Amino acid sequence: MTDRQLHLNAFLMGVGHHEAAWRHPRTEARRVLDVKHFQELARTAERGKLDSVFFADNLATGPRVRNNAPAIFEPITLLTAMAAVTTHVGLIATASTGYNEPFNLARKFTSLDHISGGRAGWNIVTSGGVDEAANFGYDEVPDHAGRYDRAAEFVDVALALWNSWEENALVLDAESGVFADSDKVRPIDHKGPRFAVRGPLNSPRSVQGRPLLVQAGSSESGKDFAAKYAEAVFTAQRTLAEGQQFYRDLTSRLARFGRRPEHLKVLPGIVPYLASTEAEAIALEAEFTDLISPEYSLRQLSWMLGTDLSTHSLDSPLPELPPIDKIRGNKSRYQLVKNLAESGDLTVRQLIGLLGGGRGHRTFAGTPEQLADDIELWFDGGAADGFNIMPPYLPGSLDLFVDEVVPILQQRGLFRTEYTETTLRGHYGLDSVPAPITASN
Ligand SMILES: Cc1cc2nc3c(=O)[nH]c(=O)nc-3n(C[C@H](O)[C@H](O)[C@H](O)COP(=O)(O)O)c2cc1C
Repeated sequence: MTDRQLHLNAFLMGVGHHEAAWRHPRTEARRVLDVKHFQELARTAERGKLDSVFFADNLATGPRVRNNAPAIFEPITLLTAMAAVTTHVGLIATASTGYNEPFNLARKFTSLDHISGGRAGWNIVTSGGVDEAANFGYDEVPDHAGRYDRAAEFVDVALALWNSWEENALVLDAESGVFADSDKVRPIDHKGPRFAVRGPLNSPRSVQGRPLLVQAGSSESGKDFAAKYAEAVFTAQRTLAEGQQFYRDLTSRLARFGRRPEHLKVLPGIVPYLASTEAEAIALEAEFTDLISPEYSLRQLSWMLGTDLSTHSLDSPLPELPPIDKIRGNKSRYQLVKNLAESGDLTVRQLIGLLGGGRGHRTFAGTPEQLADDIELWFDGGAADGFNIMPPYLPGSLDLFVDEVVPILQQRGLFRTEYTETTLRGHYGLDSVPAPITASN
């Protein structure tokens, strides 16, 4: 037995993470538009005592819609519907700092936190897609450093708004007619390079005070941003050594911001194909790979690498790629995919097969016991505080994880058998009243 406990987040996407999941007989494609499907997934995650469920988001569909459209519902809206049928599981929504205003977004997260009884989390993204930029009046993606500067000011404003209502500002005294103590509800008077916000927020302080702050960018600016603000980090590390290196790097940055390693949980992603034998699991993964549409995958790959591959031969290696400083979008995914292609000397066809399950996240094909071993290895080996579980097809592979893998982790004393807390911050072992964030630079 060990005191340290795993944190498990179910990263949900449509009817599965695999880009061809909707074509496989184990799924029902129509359910991508069925709120009951998502409510059932939330209940399944709660049955497994998972810390949280999470939705990614993109603010564009672009030309990829012919073969797949993974993020159909707006995440905060969808998670609110999931909050209504659950009591414990955390609810993490992706929202962009590039294409929102802090006041509107802070209010939405406060609403989700009130409605869910303290279970809201925000995956803070800067939005690096060219199709996204085109939906908000930009000819090209705003530059990388500028996006992170905007993200920092955005989060500072949101934090100030969440603090604009003191804890006991809501009085609700019918006798005296005092609804709220106006001395405890203050303007924030923010005037910065990008935002001017008077405040206060038009919603009382929520159960957690503010949502759990999550981040998933792994470039140098992304890691600094995470070290300053994030309480959980989602990341795509493919090998144990890379995972350990990332974990060390990220946690070593915390002290600069007056934070300690226990203030931040690192959760690498994993796409699990589970079966009763390893051979069956490998065969199952191959069934999904066979359904990949090269046209779709090439578009995805072109986007990740900042290089047009639409006319490139599938059976050749990648062409020469631009240097990383020319990548305006997602730098860490570019680096990951480039390394993957070069280290295995892969053709484009082999590469898109490997990326189909989780867009660069690690895939795992094996038995529940083997997956539990792998999770334990990373957890004990200094590479993870938990995992972002990315079911390749839904609902089946989430059911399998919850019913077959979670009990093994529980037997090994690595994962809770009951919820001991009611809030998302509580599940992640964080203080209920967030410490003020201080920055040394
Ligand atoms: C697990 C995971 C989930 C992510 N989800 C989103 C998302 O929903 N929307 C988005 O725009 N970016 C998403 N990203 C990308 C990052 O948040 C980040 O924007 C990207 O890595 C670019 O930052 P970087 O250049 O610092 O790496 C995700 C990344 C990871 C690892």
